[in-house]
Amino acid sequence: MIDIQHISKAYLSATRETWAIGDVSFTVRKGEFVCIVGPSGCGKSTLLNMVGSFMAPSAGSIAIDRIPVVPGTIPHRLGYIFQKDTVLPWYTVGRNIGLGLKFRGHPEQKIAEKVRRLLALANLSGCEDMLPHQLSGGMRQRVALLMTLACEPDVLLLDEPFGALDSNTKMTLHHELLDIWQKLSQTVMMVTHDLDEAVTLADRVIVLSAPPSRVVLDHHVDLPRPRDVFALRDSEAFGRNVRAIWSVLGREFQAAQGASREVSHVA
Ligand SMILES: Nc1ncnc2c1ncn2[C@@H]1O[C@H](COP(=O)(O)OP(=O)(O)O)[C@@H](O)[C@H]1O
Ligand SMILES: [Mg+2]
Repeated sequence: MIDIQHISKAYLSATRETWAIGDVSFTVRKGEFVCIVGPSGCGKSTLLNMVGSFMAPSAGSIAIDRIPVVPGTIPHRLGYIFQKDTVLPWYTVGRNIGLGLKFRGHPEQKIAEKVRRLLALANLSGCEDMLPHQLSGGMRQRVALLMTLACEPDVLLLDEPFGALDSNTKMTLHHELLDIWQKLSQTVMMVTHDLDEAVTLADRVIVLSAPPSRVVLDHHVDLPRPRDVFALRDSEAFGRNVRAIWSVLGREFQAAQGASREVSHVA
């Protein structure tokens, strides 16, 4: 469904050239949930932005469902969720969720039905007329997720969507995201800095190296589904998956730290 081939990306400024991504290739199958982890600055957001067409790679190609991604042209049926929730503060929860459908010209009654169905899916029934400032951070992030899901994307790109939340709220949202994903069967590519989160959610965890990044591990998470996100963490199998990934990821964290120490030493 997502085919990434030999992508590299350099950011150029008047004084310097930063190679964020060295040479990254991998594919994501239809309906698969893939998490991307790697040290800060290794180009995770950059990669997601290129898949979403918001940015052009320096070299390489990306295709979604065999159609090449053209920078500046958002691929058909793509949903994107940013690290910071992007709900509109002056609209109610219901209007926020129905916004994309309204832009697409759907009739009001159809929108209202769909909004109600989505709210029930995310345990937010009864919150339809509330304003975003009346919600907790976790509820707002759930509304942001529903805004994206309302337009029924086939491919969902998530950039650290739960990064700012406490661990309890996070796990509740993991449970809900898996529930929704299983019902709607989308292809998901999610960036996270939380390894436990990646193992809880993903079919595969891809580890990027320190920049200029490449894929240093493509790990298949061998935990059965449906997963109980709360019980899972106590299991031996969960720990085994986390350790296998950490043995590679930990090294890259150290490599990235070493590189930044060198830079500050030179400076
Ligand atoms: N617009 C930009 N201009 C110049 N450099 C950038 C820009 N965006 C990101 N970078 C640099 O590219 C590297 C990768 O950034 P990013 O993709 O945000 O990493 P990550 O999401 O993995 O933390 C970093 O060194 C960052 O400073
Ligand atoms: Mg990022």
